[in-house]
Amino acid sequence: MAARLIDLSPGDMQQRLREALAVYVDAMHYPRGTEDQRASMWLEHIRRRGWKAVAAIDVPDVPDPQALPSSAPLLGIAYGYCGSPDQWWQQQVVSGLKRSGVDGARITELMTSYFELTELHIHPQAQGRGLGEALIRRLLDGRSEQYVLLSTPEINGEGNRAWRLYRRLGFTDVIRGYHFAGDPRAFAILGRPLPL
Ligand SMILES: CC(C)(COP(=O)(O)OP(=O)(O)OC[C@H]1O[C@@H](n2cnc3c(N)ncnc32)[C@H](O)[C@@H]1OP(=O)(O)O)[C@@H](O)C(=O)NCCC(=O)NCCS
Repeated sequence: MAARLIDLSPGDMQQRLREALAVYVDAMHYPRGTEDQRASMWLEHIRRRGWKAVAAIDVPDVPDPQALPSSAPLLGIAYGYCGSPDQWWQQQVVSGLKRSGVDGARITELMTSYFELTELHIHPQAQGRGLGEALIRRLLDGRSEQYVLLSTPEINGEGNRAWRLYRRLGFTDVIRGYHFAGDPRAFAILGRPLPL
């Protein structure tokens, strides 16, 4: 399996939405049908300021003119956009920061200019080959924001690939053990200054 990284235009993302959501559901081990709940949200995200998406696609080892990148199977997907005060995620993070006792100046500093790394998923059969790191690097390359922020489920001992990747890339704790409204799981909000 050989992989190539590509940028996805808004049109590409719309076209490949079902495939991208299938990678997401398989990577996160979510039940089938989760795709349907997320589809409209992922489409709405495309319209947000600074939206960018990248993908890893499976390309034949020997170049084959019949297998154009536009039709090659998706192995991984990552996207994000500029954070802004009208977004639910930012409102949740701000309320978490306040509850954690973080002072207003620090909150403003963090929230004024950041890229939200919203989704990053590699198909289970393609994990553990460095594709996740390659996608983050491509996604964050050349961003003008001061920070990158993300949320990831808490896991015992930070013992999964996502945590290892974020720590390796220098992400530090912004909030730990946070409960987003309506979700029983605990999340960590992690961040780091840009550029990576
Ligand atoms: C988290 C995730 C995106 C990380 O992507 P990944 O491609 O699996 O992992 P990384 O890019 O960090 O690569 C790390 C692994 O690849 C190996 N690797 C790194 N560079 C490599 C290279 N050039 N060639 C081969 N292997 C390489 C490393 O040894 C490491 O292996 P290890 O974890 O077994 O020690 C992916 O595992 C995933 O989708 N997980 C499930 C969904 C998820 O948790 N998403 C994030 C939610 S916030």
